[in-house]
Amino acid sequence: MTASNASKAGSFRIGGDITVNRLGFGAMRITGKGIWGEPADPEACLRTLRRLPELGINFIDTADSYGPDVSEHLIHAALHPYANMLVATKGGLTRTGPDRWHPVGRPEYLRQQAMMSQRFLGVEQIGLWQLHRIDPKVPREEQFDAIKSLLNDGVIKHAGLSEVSVEEIEAARKIFPVATVQNRYNLVDRTSEAVLDYCTKQGIGFIPWFPLAAGDLARPGSPLDEIARKHKAAPSQVALAWVLKRSPVMLPIPGTSQVSHLEENVAAVDIDLSSDEFALLNEAGKAAFGGQSAAA
Ligand SMILES: NC(=O)c1ccc[n+]([C@@H]2O[C@H](COP(=O)([O-])OP(=O)(O)OC[C@H]3O[C@@H](n4cnc5c(N)ncnc54)[C@H](OP(=O)(O)O)[C@@H]3O)[C@@H](O)[C@H]2O)c1
Repeated sequence: MTASNASKAGSFRIGGDITVNRLGFGAMRITGKGIWGEPADPEACLRTLRRLPELGINFIDTADSYGPDVSEHLIHAALHPYANMLVATKGGLTRTGPDRWHPVGRPEYLRQQAMMSQRFLGVEQIGLWQLHRIDPKVPREEQFDAIKSLLNDGVIKHAGLSEVSVEEIEAARKIFPVATVQNRYNLVDRTSEAVLDYCTKQGIGFIPWFPLAAGDLARPGSPLDEIARKHKAAPSQVALAWVLKRSPVMLPIPGTSQVSHLEENVAAVDIDLSSDEFALLNEAGKAAFGGQSAAA
């Protein structure tokens, strides 16, 4: 059987400039437990990375803090010099151990981290660099000014933000062009619905992280389960197909360390949800999210 190809998801121009297929790859899972240190099976991770171009994936998301540095080094080992591929990275979270993440937004730190990523990835210019978190302990304008300097000096070509509100995006846009926003979003986590709508209107790429999640909606007999059976697909594939159909600026980056999971995720591009199926999943996802937020 011919493998599915990410190009079937359509493409998007990041910053109106760099064209990528809309289904990308998240490289957080190619590290050790707690996103710390070397992965248990580095060869499997390298195989997964090398499979990406064969499956039409030309957009990878990583960060300095994944490992730290482990993810960027593995990407370099597997794929440098990245023919027709955009490797986007992030900075602004420091690590004090497994599962520990702390925002650090001092301008000199952000600049150092972008320049280290540039070196570790082996690129003259980082195509897309994203502020992993706005540090609440540093005036946000100082962080945005640091990004503007990175753009002006050519260290990075385009810049984005992560886990932000519409108000924060608008404040940043006064200082530099925001090419992408990366917030947690999936069928059953709709916290960032307003941010997604804003990005859709403004043509800003929206990168949903944790895009495969379906929570309790994956249970047997649920609307998601029924639609998945009809399409002979896994619930996570249908959840991903729904995310892709939700907006033309949507750039999901499901992450895995295994080739078989990667291939399964890419096959989601072959699922053609009808308008009725899309609407049904939309309502079921919203209801599940409402239930979760009421319980929280
Ligand atoms: N901006 C931010 O703050 C932020 C935060 C978190 C993540 N991210 C980015 O978003 C990307 C995706 O987020 P995520 O990794 O949290 O969520 P995800 O991609 O939705 O889920 C990844 C998890 O699902 C498993 N998985 C993937 N494909 C599978 C399949 N077909 N069958 C069964 N299990 C599967 C993976 O384990 P296996 O390795 O075993 O497949 C992993 O545990 C990350 O890689 C990272 O680049 C950004």
